[in-house]
Amino acid sequence: MSETVEISFVCLGNICRSPLAQGLFQDLVKREKLGHKIIISSAGTSAWHVGDLPDQRMRQTAQSKGIQLRSRARQFQRKDFSRFDLVLAMDESNLSNLEEIAPKNLPEDKLMLFRSFDPESNGDLNVPDPYYGGAKGFEAVYQMVERTCPSLLDYIKANLLDSS
Ligand code: 4NP
Repeated sequence: MSETVEISFVCLGNICRSPLAQGLFQDLVKREKLGHKIIISSAGTSAWHVGDLPDQRMRQTAQSKGIQLRSRARQFQRKDFSRFDLVLAMDESNLSNLEEIAPKNLPEDKLMLFRSFDPESNGDLNVPDPYYGGAKGFEAVYQMVERTCPSLLDYIKANLLDSS
């Protein structure tokens, strides 16, 4: 348990799924007045979009619900595993890319699938990549991420954050 917790959401490009998770989780944490205790960022396993704003379609979907996405894409680095208390992979491919660069002695609860916290996962633990699809895919990603954030926050409060 510690006074502050630093977490990162990770997808492939860091322009669709993980920036949305960052924006939605930041909004929830702010509403719960925990912004000074939970530090949130996101990254991609690839360097393809480094420096870019989130994809216009993802920003538009979030904006239509009152959420602004303003992060800039960065690539996840091996050394980031020591900086973060919790790294959340958006799908199983992102997870295996992260496992490839993770230190051998990484505590097993430091790297998890984001949807392992989804109360409606029904065994599917992937947030599907919406990049090559249509608007419906972005909306589906939004719904999945939105409903998963509260149970992720409950987990962090119960397991990582000092409540005093
Ligand atoms: P993300 O989506 O991993 O959710 O950011 C993607 C963004 C870009 C690409 C693939 C997925 N791409 O091929 O450039």
